[in-house]
Amino acid sequence: MKKILVIHGPNLQLLGEREVSVYGNVTLKEINEALEKEAQALGVELVLLQSNHEGAIVDRIGHSAQEFSGVLINPAAYTHTSVAIRDALAACGLPAVEVHLSPIYKREDFRRHSMTAPACIAQVTGFGKDSYLLGLRGLVAYISKIKIVKKATAARKRK
Ligand code: DQA
Repeated sequence: MKKILVIHGPNLQLLGEREVSVYGNVTLKEINEALEKEAQALGVELVLLQSNHEGAIVDRIGHSAQEFSGVLINPAAYTHTSVAIRDALAACGLPAVEVHLSPIYKREDFRRHSMTAPACIAQVTGFGKDSYLLGLRGLVAYISKIKIVKKATAARKRK
């Protein structure tokens, strides 16, 4: 079964009590439960990580290439600052999707730039909890397509 690495960045452990007017009442536990349910329907396995530490996130991505087929990441505040996470995503070579609960392009100026998105295949922002579910669906569809293209290329080479 394909494995997806899910990373929640800093302060997301506080969801449900943190800036409720921006992020809503949903907790990280509820997001993870919804993701697990979606993953089951999609036939993939998830490994979930929440960390407030940039280095821990970089380390986890750095060890992901062999084990995982893709990365779903909400880098939270590191979205706007972290060259290290961007480089880790680029280096691991896995397709990654960046997600945000809030609509980052409608918020403060400093949130309107994502350092990490250029290392991702796509970004989903502003749908609350659904950003994660849409991101997971898109990522799994993308991975299945690469698999089909790889199979077709291998079949052409055999001819
Ligand atoms: C966030 C948006 C970021 O700007 C912020 O620092 C977060 C959460 C979101 O999911 O909307 O912590 O990534």
